Amino acid sequence: MALGEEFLSELRMRTDIENLISSYVVLKRRGKTLVGLCPFHNEKTPSFTVYPESQSFYCFGCGSGGDAVTFLRKIENLDYIDAIKALADKVGMTMPDEGGYDKTISDKRRRILEANRAAARYFHSCLMAPEGREALEYLLRRGLTKKTIASFGLGFAPNSWHSLIDHMRSLGFTRQELVSANLANESIKNDRKNVYDNFRNRLMFPVIDIRGNVVAFGGRVLDDSKPKYINTSDTLVYKKGQGIFALNLAKNGNSERKLILAEGYMDVIALHQAGFTNAVACLGTALTKEQAGIIARYADEVILSYDNDGAGQAAANRAIQIFSKTGIKIRVLSLSGGKDPDEIIKNHGPERFRALLQGAANDTEYKILKARNKYDVSTDDGKVSFLNEATDVLSFISNSIEREVYASRLSGELNISKEAILREAERKYKANRRKSEKAQFRQIQRDSQPSNDPVNPDRAKSPLGAKAEDVLLATIMKNPDFLEKIDDIQPEEFITSFNARVFAFLRDRIKQNLPLDLSYFSGSFTPEEMGRIALLQTMSFTVSNTVAECSDCIKTIRREKANMIKVDPAGASDEEFLKLFQNKTKDT
Ligand code: CTP
Ligand code: MN
Repeated sequence: MALGEEFLSELRMRTDIENLISSYVVLKRRGKTLVGLCPFHNEKTPSFTVYPESQSFYCFGCGSGGDAVTFLRKIENLDYIDAIKALADKVGMTMPDEGGYDKTISDKRRRILEANRAAARYFHSCLMAPEGREALEYLLRRGLTKKTIASFGLGFAPNSWHSLIDHMRSLGFTRQELVSANLANESIKNDRKNVYDNFRNRLMFPVIDIRGNVVAFGGRVLDDSKPKYINTSDTLVYKKGQGIFALNLAKNGNSERKLILAEGYMDVIALHQAGFTNAVACLGTALTKEQAGIIARYADEVILSYDNDGAGQAAANRAIQIFSKTGIKIRVLSLSGGKDPDEIIKNHGPERFRALLQGAANDTEYKILKARNKYDVSTDDGKVSFLNEATDVLSFISNSIEREVYASRLSGELNISKEAILREAERKYKANRRKSEKAQFRQIQRDSQPSNDPVNPDRAKSPLGAKAEDVLLATIMKNPDFLEKIDDIQPEEFITSFNARVFAFLRDRIKQNLPLDLSYFSGSFTPEEMGRIALLQTMSFTVSNTVAECSDCIKTIRREKANMIKVDPAGASDEEFLKLFQNKTKDT
């Protein structure tokens, strides 16, 4: 990868990491730095820190860190070059043409998106043509208007093995491109590779991302045959468990930052047509962490509107658990008057659904309700068990007024003093907090265990030596001029190969008089490694920053390396091994 220095330095100059991260994380100023809740792990007290001065970030809870590019890569799940592009886009720079970087992946992505768009157009035109008559009638019978059909870009894949392929080939798409977009499948017959349309005789639902790209399709049968849906499998532009249907539309109809999450494509479409333009659905699978994270970015509150059958309720429970980690407010609709939003609206009109929305139990009410249904609260035993669960629920509410409201209600209902209920909830609340603090502490301890360091596994060879390397690197990062003043140490002398790489990288840049900001590292190191480099940078605030300390570090590294050779026969050369052996015989 070789993006020009000039381009990178201009990009760095124009990028404001505080601004960038603020659009994902609520940041509070604390002196020269900003802190917030880490978006990369689940935490209740902020340990995620942004350093505007060095244009970097570091989380003391989970160890993620790096520059603006690293942040974008991690939060948007992008590769290096796409993150650079996104950043360049934001600050109004165009990518250099002769960058020499590998354009093939992004070219392939672009081709897949173009193919998807062309296919969506084709499917839509088929729906409107005579061959799509049956499909169109099906949709109209289910109550969709032509306007809705057009605004969701619904389509029909003809009952043929080749119609899409033929059409796309006439537009210049190759077989390979169609297969990689999963619009076509490959089979091998008599030693010959054949391709055929993936979607046949199905209603087509294009999945459009927030930038307006068609990233995938869902295809539904027109009758009761199986499988009911075929969905695009993983491609370069789409991963199962990442797409959210209709978010492209819902993000606009959502001034209140509330999203309704339904189960099916048809539910979402019916909801939009009925005026609930903030409805979305997850695709194909149960809700994933990634999807919850995306939803939490566009909404402060999510209203779960799952089918009221067993499967739907199980899915809702799972979703509650996943959402509870995002900090977003959750409400659960208990649907009545139909099995899903589509049916409720069809049977009783939008008003019925609006009423459900207004009365929707919140997350706490829902959990308490569920606990109550489990026990017979007319018996003492049942009362105790129910209260025990209910106070569990209350113990996770951090707002004491909210706790009080529910405690009053329970007190009235069960004829138990409110104080007793609150005391119990508070006791559990404190226990939870102690437990999570302990867990956090143990995590930090585990992370700092030398043998558990995934970024720098060599650390186990010599924790002391690795630590000396860290301090040396931290000091040089902050004081590049020291490099000339200290002993001439070579990367090969380092004990850990990760630190050796960082040192080689640093040394080369210093020798060429190039700046050392984190942003220049992110082309050569993975996001996980960037976290470590950001940690080194934060260390430079606490080390003594003297040439003398560097010299001590170098001595330690050399001494530890020499010791290692002595104690590690497996890693020693023949000659060294012999010496080791001689020492031993002498000693005994
Ligand atoms: N789904 C899927 N594959 C299946 C069944 C379902 O991917 N074989 C996904 C689809 O995203 C679907 C959602 O799960 O939209 C909900 O499934 P279901 O309720 O069966 O479908 P609906 O879209 O609601 O269809 P309909 O109302 O026509 O029954
Ligand atoms: Mn359904």
